[in-house]
Amino acid sequence: MIHARDLARTFKTKSGPVEAVRGVSLDVAEGELVAFLGPNGAGKSTSVRMLTTLLPPSSGGALVGGHDIVRDPAAVRRKIGYVGQGTGSGPYHRVRDELITQGRAQRMSAADARRRADELLGMLELEGLADRDCSSLSGGQRRRLDVALGLMHTPQILFLDEPSTGLDPHSRANLWGHITRVRKESGMTIFLTTHYLDEADMMAERVMIMDHGRMIADDTPERLKADLAGDTIRVSFLGDGETVTAAELAQNLPQARDIAPNGRSLTLTVRDGEAILPEFIARLQAKGLDIATASVRRPTLDDVFLGLTGRSLRENAVAA
Ligand SMILES: Nc1ncnc2c1ncn2[C@@H]1O[C@H](COP(=O)(O)OP(=O)(O)O)[C@@H](O)[C@H]1O
Ligand SMILES: [Mg+2]
Repeated sequence: MIHARDLARTFKTKSGPVEAVRGVSLDVAEGELVAFLGPNGAGKSTSVRMLTTLLPPSSGGALVGGHDIVRDPAAVRRKIGYVGQGTGSGPYHRVRDELITQGRAQRMSAADARRRADELLGMLELEGLADRDCSSLSGGQRRRLDVALGLMHTPQILFLDEPSTGLDPHSRANLWGHITRVRKESGMTIFLTTHYLDEADMMAERVMIMDHGRMIADDTPERLKADLAGDTIRVSFLGDGETVTAAELAQNLPQARDIAPNGRSLTLTVRDGEAILPEFIARLQAKGLDIATASVRRPTLDDVFLGLTGRSLRENAVAA
């Protein structure tokens, strides 16, 4: 559904050129839900705006829904829905009218637009709000309306740019429930950007990580975590000085790295912590070391990002 090759965009600014996207290649198959993850300024929105024909690339190209974004943008637009980072709905329109106007702008007949508007009001649980002014909606309701607006013409691919940013955790979960349902019912391909790690981890089958205009990872969340971060084992001891012996033993564990003694405890990173920990404990006990506690921590996508860039994406998200 999406095939991009070396997509790049440079903005000319007064203080010089800004290379927002520096050659992104990606492929998304029909029905996939892909999360585009990265810190603020990574180039996510610029990439999405190129894929949705809102912004011409400086170089490279893409096929979206089988059509060339540069040569045939109108055909691309018929196949896609786009929900941008801001809200698209006019503040003084009623919710249902807003949807119908959108459908009419996409050349649907009045009857079709009404039918589709009512269908989407139901799907996104906005029925009770159909006659309300858009300006009176809560953040979460408004975001659901934005999604409904993007779905009016029944697109095959839905692009969502930071759909849940600014929503409280409850509204975020609610929005995700709705998007998941729309997807299940329609089999739609969904491409979304987010800087919420937990969200990308939970929702997406595939995560693409972008940083400084480049794609630095593209895989399932599970494989990214196993390959790039690993599990952290932590063992603490009753006596002093036992970590020295423990660190020596840890050297011999398969693929052990980042072995770090600290006071009475030792941490290390391995690929499969749950399999390794019992073995490690047995070796420690065979040497007569007294273990106080032992634990395995599974990695997060933040650990993946940290491993790739040396920076924490979580701190970036909190700051944002
Ligand atoms: N219209 C523009 N003019 C100049 N610079 C821009 C413009 N749009 C985006 N940028 C710059 O391009 C970079 C990537 O921005 P963006 O794609 O919005 O990132 P993200 O969505 O990942 O936060 C940033 O440095 C941003 O300031
Ligand atoms: Mg953005």
